[in-house]
Amino acid sequence: MAAKNRALSRGVAVVGAGMSNFGAFPGQSTRDLFVQAFQEMRSSVDKGLDPADIEALYIGNYSSDLFEGQAHMAALMADWTGLTPRPATRIEDACASSGVALRQGIIAVASGLYDIVLVGGIEKMTDLPISEVTDTLATAADMLYEIPAGFTFPGLYAAMATAYMDRYGATPDSFMSVGLKNHDNGAVNPKAQFGARIADIMAGKVAKAQKKGYPAPTWANEMAFLHDDRANPVIAWPMRLFDCSPVSDGAAAILLVSEQLAKSFSDDPLYIAGSGQASDVALHDRVELTSIGSARQASQQAYEMAGVSPEDIKIAEVHDCFTIAEIIATEDLGFFEPGQGYEAAEEGLTTRHGPKPINTSGGLKSKGHPVGASGAGQVVEIWKQMRGQAGDRQVTKDVDLALTHNVGGTGQSCVVHIFERR
Ligand code: COA
Repeated sequence: MAAKNRALSRGVAVVGAGMSNFGAFPGQSTRDLFVQAFQEMRSSVDKGLDPADIEALYIGNYSSDLFEGQAHMAALMADWTGLTPRPATRIEDACASSGVALRQGIIAVASGLYDIVLVGGIEKMTDLPISEVTDTLATAADMLYEIPAGFTFPGLYAAMATAYMDRYGATPDSFMSVGLKNHDNGAVNPKAQFGARIADIMAGKVAKAQKKGYPAPTWANEMAFLHDDRANPVIAWPMRLFDCSPVSDGAAAILLVSEQLAKSFSDDPLYIAGSGQASDVALHDRVELTSIGSARQASQQAYEMAGVSPEDIKIAEVHDCFTIAEIIATEDLGFFEPGQGYEAAEEGLTTRHGPKPINTSGGLKSKGHPVGASGAGQVVEIWKQMRGQAGDRQVTKDVDLALTHNVGGTGQSCVVHIFERR
């Protein structure tokens, strides 16, 4: 069944975007983090924002119920940002929650129902011990057929990684090249959970050992470190620690307005050129594990709506919850042919100085993955890069078209957006 892909009935623009730091913040609640994101978003609106003008909120949140014992988060976020009695809606689509919240906000503005909408993403994961975090994340997989068979999320993506290796000849080193790149990018992102290159992390471990009077490890280079089972243990082969996104807290906020209002808020708005969303069966039911069908469909819809092709996209933030996921994403989005994404990563084509910069923010791997906030966090990076405000990680080319790709679970949901700077 082909999805109809109508154009938006009126244009929608992003005129503000902000985020909290991503990381582990034991002393801060989701409310604190969202207020920080909201305040940064507000100060990013060039011509100022009176919060009283916001007409509705769409908040992406995966599982505050299980992570924090607190449900009904959207109304709470409206309260803590002073936006009651505005309608506040929570959107849950696993790790794609705030990407889907963005799409719902776009639909609401495009429909004419609202002119000014706040989109948010929130998650606080680090209050629970890791075993309970793993169990909570597992509820985004198939609890009937996958989890009882012993799968965790690292395990599910490891299955995709082994299938990819078998089919195309990639090796664990291919995945490591993605981790190296994303840590390089995260090192120049002040908001990132791991603000360190892998070389810096190695140096830190040597210094720590020396301080304690232990024999200092001697790795010849980063790859030697990444091959060391003690430094980089296997989580679910071939996914090691530095192939996994971390457990994170964080929030992000985006302001959407109708195209007609864009210039009254911003000197340099970003326009929504394309939006696509699709679903897929759970991983165990798929014909192939080396591609995510919902990502192919969602991106096709977004490209068609925007009237552009993958070659036109200058930068992209893609859903690298595991390093294999970034490689598959670059193929599903049409940046590289199936089976060539791993070579592109190895050859450096996706570094921030390469021809197709991917995850200049550090991606979920290094910036952090507070799951319900990750999709909105991707938009914050696109906002900064397209407006030339990304500091040390600013790409050198002019970014007139950029893309975000946000996956729920192992791809049962995917949402893709294309942003245009005119
Ligand atoms: N990448 C790199 N280093 C990481 C890391 C990651 N993903 N997660 C933790 N670390 C580091 C910590 O900083 C710490 O370093 P230190 O000893 O130098 O201080 C060390 O590893 C141990 O940290 P800890 O928090 O005890 O790790 P953990 O064993 O509890 O968690 C994982 C590690 C991989 C199990 C966890 O990050 C995880 O489950 N990630 C996947 C999350 C996920 O599935 N998300 C949804 C995707 S769809």
